[in-house]
Amino acid sequence: MDIWFHPSEELEKIVAKAAEDAGFDKSFEPQIRTADPRFGDFQANGALPYAKSKKSNPRTCAQILLGHIEKNPDFDPSYIETSIAGPGFINFRLTKKFLQSWLTKYKGESELKAAAKKFYDGKKVIIDYPSPNTAKQMHVGHLRPMVIGEAIRRLLEFCGADIKSDNHIGDWGTNFGILIYGIKSQGYKLDTSNENSLEELESMYKKGSALAKESPEHAEAARAELLKLQSGDPENVALWNEINKVSSAAFDRMYKRMGLKIDMTLGESFYRDKVSRIYKELCETGIAEENQGALVVFLRDHDRFKTQPFIIRKSDGASNYASTDLATLLYRVENFGAEEIVYVTDGRQQDHFQQLFLTAKKWFDAKGYSLPSLRHVWFGTILGEDGKAIKTKSGEPVRLRALLDEAVSRARDVVRAKNPGASEDEAEKIANTVGVAAIRYADLSQNRSGDYLFSWDKLLAFDGNTAPYLLYAAARIHSIFRKINRSPYGDFEGASEIETDTEIALAHKLLSLPAVFESTLSDLRPHFLCTYLYELAGTFSAFYNADKVISDDKQAMERRLMLCSRTLGVLETGLRLLGIEPLEKM
Ligand code: ARG
Repeated sequence: MDIWFHPSEELEKIVAKAAEDAGFDKSFEPQIRTADPRFGDFQANGALPYAKSKKSNPRTCAQILLGHIEKNPDFDPSYIETSIAGPGFINFRLTKKFLQSWLTKYKGESELKAAAKKFYDGKKVIIDYPSPNTAKQMHVGHLRPMVIGEAIRRLLEFCGADIKSDNHIGDWGTNFGILIYGIKSQGYKLDTSNENSLEELESMYKKGSALAKESPEHAEAARAELLKLQSGDPENVALWNEINKVSSAAFDRMYKRMGLKIDMTLGESFYRDKVSRIYKELCETGIAEENQGALVVFLRDHDRFKTQPFIIRKSDGASNYASTDLATLLYRVENFGAEEIVYVTDGRQQDHFQQLFLTAKKWFDAKGYSLPSLRHVWFGTILGEDGKAIKTKSGEPVRLRALLDEAVSRARDVVRAKNPGASEDEAEKIANTVGVAAIRYADLSQNRSGDYLFSWDKLLAFDGNTAPYLLYAAARIHSIFRKINRSPYGDFEGASEIETDTEIALAHKLLSLPAVFESTLSDLRPHFLCTYLYELAGTFSAFYNADKVISDDKQAMERRLMLCSRTLGVLETGLRLLGIEPLEKM
C-alpha cells in the first residue's frame, strides 16, 4: 500500500468504494470521524443511518462493508487495523508501521508540498490583496489585508494552486479632485524621490478638503480638477501619475518589509475604459435598470437587496467601486482564466461583495460565461487596550511603519534579556524577525472574522500561542542538532520503530497536518494552522521532556532524532506559510 498523506480522506474513498462494491445505493455516506483514542484513530459511522433507512441490521451492514474494505488492494491491514464496535461503527487504527512509514516518507517541506498539491491541483486562482487606496500612508488598518492575504496566498500556492496576487489599488476616485486642488492651491511641488512625500501628500489632501468644506467655490474648483483629470487633461494626468509613483514607492517598501509577493497591480484606474461593456451587458440582459439617473441592480430574490440596490453607475455618469469590480471580475476570467477569486478585505465590505457575487452570477449565467468560485475573506478590526479601534493618543490612526518599528524595538529588549550573549548583529537580526513575526502572528492566530485586542505584552510573550514561542520551539530543535553536529534534515536510516506513548502521540500530531490544511482551506482561516502549530510545539515538549533524545541506544536515538527533525520540518513549513521566516538561533 502507498503511504497515505491524508489518512481520513483516503479512508473515506475506501469506505465509499466498499459501499459501492456491496451494492449500497447513493444515499450511503462514509461519515469518517476521528475516533475515541481507546478504540482507534478514525471511525466510519455511515453504516448506522444507512441500515436504519433500509430497515436492516447496522452491525451486519458494517460487517459487509468491512468485508469489502479488506478486499480492496489499496487497503493493507499491516498498516491499518480494523474492528467493529457498538451498534455498527467501523474503527480504524493506524499501526506503528504506518506512522513510521509516514514519517520516513514525508521528510520535510518539499515532500509535504508535493503531497499537498492535490488540494488545489493546478486550479487557477487570483487573490486580491492588500489593495490599499493610494495617496495615503499605511496605517494599522492596512495590516490585516497584508498579513492575512499573504498567508492565504502562500497556503494556496503550497496546496497546488496556480495563483497570482493582484493588488487592486484604489487609484481612481473623487478624492483625487480634492488632492489635486490641495496641491495646486498650495503651490506644492511633488518630489518622487523624497521618502516623506506621502506624508506631505496627506497634508495636501487635508488642505484641499478643508477648503472644499469652507466654501462652495472651492468645492466647485475641486470638482473641476477631477473632471479635468477624468477627461485626460495633460497637466492633471501628469500630476496623478506622480501621486501614484510616490504612493507605490512607499507601499513597495512596506510590502518588502512584510514579505509580500505581489504579482501585479491593476488598480481601479486600469478598468476605466472597461466599464462601458459592463453597462451594456447588464442592460441588455435586463439585470440592470435606470433609477433616478443612476444605473442599478435590484436583486429581486434577495431579502435585503431587493430594495437596497447595487449602484453600478452614479447619476452623474461616473463609474464607481461596483462597476470597477464587475469589470475586474470579467477581466480576471477572460485574461487569466481565473477559476477562483479570493478577495481579502474588511468586514464592512460584506454587502458590496454579496451584491457583486450575486450580480455576477446572474450576468455570467445570462451571457453563458463560466463563473469562477468567488470567496470574500473578510476580517474584523484591531482594537486598542480600551476596546475601541486602535488609535494614537491624538486620535489619529497608528502609522504602520511606527508600529513595526516599535515591535522591533520591544523585541530587541526581550531578545537581549533572554540571550545576553548574542552578538550585536545576531541580536538585531533576531529582533527584526521576532518583532514583525509577533505582530503578524497575533493577527493570524485569531479567527479573522472577529475583532481582536492588540496587546504588546501578549504578542511578545515567550509562552502561549505566540510567534516568539513557536520560533523558539523551532530554534530549540536546531540547537539539539547543533550539539551533536548533525543536520536536522535527513533520512535517519537506523531508526527503530516508534514505541513510547509520547513518541506515538507526536507522530499522530505530525500526521494530522493534512487534515489541518483541509480545514484551513475550507474557509480560508489561517488561525486553524496557528492553533495546530501551537499544539504541535506542546506535544513536542511533552515528548522531549519524557523521552531522552541523546542516548546510548543508537536505534532509539535515531528514531527520536527523526521525530525532532519531522517536527522541525512541519514547524518551519507552517511558519513560512504564515509569512514568518524561522530562525536557527534565538
Ligand atoms: N481599495 C479598497 C479598500 O481600501 C479594497 C479593494 C478590494 N478589492 C476589490 N476588488 N474590491 O477598501
